[in-house]
Amino acid sequence: MANPLLFRPITLRDVEVRNRLWVSPMCQYSVTALDGVPRDWHLQHLGALARGGAGLVMVEATAVVPEGRISPRDLGLWEDAQVPSFARLAEIVHAHGARIGVQLAHAGRKASTYPWLPDFTGGTQPEAEGGWPTVGPSAVAFGELAAPRALETTELAGIVAAFVASANRAVAAGFDVLELHAAHGYLFHSFLSPFSNQRDDAYGGDLAGRARLLRETTRAVRAAHPAVPLVVRISATEWVEGGFDLTEARQLVAWLAEDGADLVDASSAANILKAPIPVGPGYQVPLAAALREGPLPVGAVGMITTAAQAETILATGQADIVSIGRPLLADPHLPLRWARELRAPAAESLLPPQYHRAQF
Ligand SMILES: Cc1cc2nc3c(=O)[nH]c(=O)nc-3n(C[C@H](O)[C@H](O)[C@H](O)COP(=O)(O)O)c2cc1C
Repeated sequence: MANPLLFRPITLRDVEVRNRLWVSPMCQYSVTALDGVPRDWHLQHLGALARGGAGLVMVEATAVVPEGRISPRDLGLWEDAQVPSFARLAEIVHAHGARIGVQLAHAGRKASTYPWLPDFTGGTQPEAEGGWPTVGPSAVAFGELAAPRALETTELAGIVAAFVASANRAVAAGFDVLELHAAHGYLFHSFLSPFSNQRDDAYGGDLAGRARLLRETTRAVRAAHPAVPLVVRISATEWVEGGFDLTEARQLVAWLAEDGADLVDASSAANILKAPIPVGPGYQVPLAAALREGPLPVGAVGMITTAAQAETILATGQADIVSIGRPLLADPHLPLRWARELRAPAAESLLPPQYHRAQF
């Protein structure tokens, strides 16, 4: 292949990313000090992914307030004391030539779970064990989790402000890209879905109401950081009749473009416990392709496992970037391998000089 798209740079705002193969955000449940601060595991894990050749490393869901963590072991950017360790992380990723982004998140009614590690049993972590009461758009529980308290209308400005304050900290730490987590049943997605949002104020009801919190946050983060690329990850469908679906997602993307987002990453599901998700190779790519008919560049993600598959997604115009999760856990050097496989001119420059004798 002459010059595969996958390993050509992409520019968002004024930030050039060296290629279009990005690390999908993945919670590590590794903050054993429970203070939201990245330490050894995150530094070496994310450093390895940057060294492996990815264009952008998107740091896992990082809570904007302590009660917005999925589990007590999540990362957070809710106070200034957390910034220096994120700055060290950014330095390491940059040293490998990759860009670094952070997925700013509030887990809403899906917060306060046990860490999703191999002994994960599911369920809400009780307050006596370090959990906390959760909040959401309405007092509607997700599956077997504890029901959240419905947020008061007057509390919502505080949520927007928390996202802006965390964005400020990420930028102060040297992060290149910001992402809002509006997928997977967490706070923004639970506002978007008529299943979980039964509010009768301006933040519920029709799509304009259900999208209001995410749109206000997008606008506020954009206003605070005019030059910083802003990604929004959405669940483009719940795969359930009557839920937030692709038609609504297309309208949302049009609005997010007006609000200042630069790219939408098309994931799906996870606001409804038992949705019939058609899991299979590239199963979310058609969602990305549909959204790409709109005004914003789009990311494809989910069971993209070969170089040829990733390149075809870009070459057929179904997405502008490809995010990879689990395959990178199995092999952090996968981008280097794929660059060689696709005979990308960038392959040699991606290889750290110290590894020049490696046969990728
Ligand atoms: C261990 C693990 C943690 C994850 N954590 C997050 C997260 O923090 N934020 C998010 O949006 N998605 C998260 N995901 C979903 C991935 O980003 C990705 O969308 C999903 O795994 C599908 O891509 P893949 O088939 O390439 O793994 C996680 C997935 C895994 C496997």
